Amino acid sequence: MESHSIAICENAGERESVMKLVEISAGYWLPRALHVVADLGVADALDEEPRSADYLAAEVGVNADALDRVLRLLASHDVFRRNEGKYEHNALSLALRSDHPQSMRAYVRLVGLPVFWKSWGALEEVVRSGKPAVTDIFAYLKEHPRETEIFDAGMKSKAQSAISPVIAAYDFSQLGTIADIGGGLGHLLKAILKSSPKSRGVLFDQAHVIERVEPDQAIGTRLTLQAGDFFRGPLPSCDAYMVMEVLHDWTDKQSRQILQQIRSAASGAAKLLVIETMLPSASAWTAGQGEHFGHSLDINMLVLTGGRERTSDEFARLFADSGWRFLRVMPTASPYSIVEAITA
Ligand SMILES: C[S@@+](CC[C@H](N)C(=O)[O-])C[C@H]1O[C@@H](n2cnc3c(N)ncnc32)[C@H](O)[C@@H]1O
Repeated sequence: MESHSIAICENAGERESVMKLVEISAGYWLPRALHVVADLGVADALDEEPRSADYLAAEVGVNADALDRVLRLLASHDVFRRNEGKYEHNALSLALRSDHPQSMRAYVRLVGLPVFWKSWGALEEVVRSGKPAVTDIFAYLKEHPRETEIFDAGMKSKAQSAISPVIAAYDFSQLGTIADIGGGLGHLLKAILKSSPKSRGVLFDQAHVIERVEPDQAIGTRLTLQAGDFFRGPLPSCDAYMVMEVLHDWTDKQSRQILQQIRSAASGAAKLLVIETMLPSASAWTAGQGEHFGHSLDINMLVLTGGRERTSDEFARLFADSGWRFLRVMPTASPYSIVEAITA
């Protein structure tokens, strides 16, 4: 590759700031340590007593010196507390326990799944070809039940932290029958039906996901389960449709197909609520507000699914092409926004 020369004036501030490149380039060492510790169940093996790495290594069946060094790295970033050579729980390590009410263990394991890790490892190839490293992630998951379980549990644990902000940002109680399309194990819809006792819900997802949805006595018959393919339909006929972190899995063409399927099933005045991260607009970049978690998620979609995160303008265009009219974006107290549309 030809290198083009430019004039570079170096000063002390610049020398300091280039150290940031060291941090960024080595940035994956820390998360990898977190994935492994979550996968091994180290936080579950640690009780209220301070414990040595020898003890924890024996509990989870690994090498004590290696585990000690990995835990020391994590403790230096406030995941576990290290005191006199032993480990104790703190807020972040407790959230790695499986029995924590807002447990993030499954989400961390999901991000560390071999298929995620290998796909990110293939980023250079992905950038060269513009094609994802995996041909069809959902077909892959269907063939790998153990990874599917981690994937679905990870989606559920990610949603735990996003559900309250989403419910707080929108009045779901005004909606009669709400469908959650690609709703996974039903975590979002169940929470909405609990907070809106007059609403009914239809959870729509692939058969092998729907068959693992657990009934919930607090909702009873207000929740209906429907297995199917959102590219083919038929989808349920409802007053409102939620689509959380589904469109970002797909290209624009595929997303339009999903939205058109929903449109054909929707009643005349139905609402569409897309819940995803919203990439900053061009004007936000100009105002120095380009930073957003959605940019990382966007590359995750690039390598794994061929999908993408989108700006509100990009959503508005997708809607216009598939029978929906963009109304507004509601930010929530989480990285997710709610984009509302109505039938066009
Ligand atoms: C990224 S997950 C999002 C799950 C959930 N909405 C959430 O936010 O936690 C995408 C969901 O789409 C479902 N899905 C993928 N392909 C599908 C298809 N062709 N028909 C129906 N559901 C599908 C998956 O099973 C999965 O539950």
